[in-house]
Amino acid sequence: MTYGTRLDGYPATSKLLHWLVAICVLTTAPVAIAMVRVDKGPTQDMLYNFHKSLGVLILILMLLRLINRLTVGAPIADPNIEPWQKTVSSAVHGLLYLLLLAMPVVGYVANSAYGAPTPFFGLFTLPKIVGENQDLAKQLFTLHRWAGFLVILLVLMHVGAALYHYFIRKDDVLKRMLPEAMGGFPAPLSPQGHTE
Ligand code: HEM
Ligand code: HEM
Repeated sequence: MTYGTRLDGYPATSKLLHWLVAICVLTTAPVAIAMVRVDKGPTQDMLYNFHKSLGVLILILMLLRLINRLTVGAPIADPNIEPWQKTVSSAVHGLLYLLLLAMPVVGYVANSAYGAPTPFFGLFTLPKIVGENQDLAKQLFTLHRWAGFLVILLVLMHVGAALYHYFIRKDDVLKRMLPEAMGGFPAPLSPQGHTE
């Protein structure tokens, strides 16, 4: 599903967008969990604004990432991974693309329906895209929350798999996504065979 046909690895643009989105998701998810649990007040407001701003940034980055993916494609799967690993990782990658595009939209619509502002890092505020509707807001926030927990679960699986490949299997899977300056390189073209 998400593997392609390139033999020269992930292009630099794909790696850059991967790590920018990763930083935003790894920040906004804990912020979301904290913001609904702290007492009302300026700290909570700040956390909500930060969560919403990062969510909007994720949407922008994911749209760029989708365009990048459709334009430059993706490499073949690492030939050393098992067929089931290829199937599962492909499904996880595909779901992450889908959820990270849909979640900010659901969050934004829910937020508008609730009647709350959607700020972007204090630079500007996005217009409300639907009229006030508390029932709709409640339903969409429930969807947003569960989709958010699914994103967290998928990210834990994804990061766990990357670390398992790096520390336990000691193969090249993590290096496929690292910048060249940090030792990144394309997948070997045949099982166990590096081209070096
Ligand atoms: C990909 C981006 C996003 C992710 C991963 C994400 C994740 C989450 C998660 C996990 C929660 C649940 C927290 C909990 O109940 O413990 C949550 C709640 C919330 N999110 Fe997001 N979110 C994203 C984008 C957005 C955007 C763009 C907005 C608004 C414009 C937004 C507004 C909210 C609000 C207001 C809540 C609290 C809902 C409630 O009170 O039940 N989120 N988010
Ligand atoms: C937390 C947010 C993250 C998200 C949403 C995410 C998402 C993705 C997606 C969608 C892909 C598929 C590549 C593409 O077609 O664009 C991918 C690949 C990859 N990610 Fe992540 N990632 C995250 C964090 C991480 C972290 C923290 C690591 C390392 C510890 C990591 C390691 C990798 C590796 C090694 C690949 C390449 C897998 C391969 O092609 O063999 N990712 N990631």
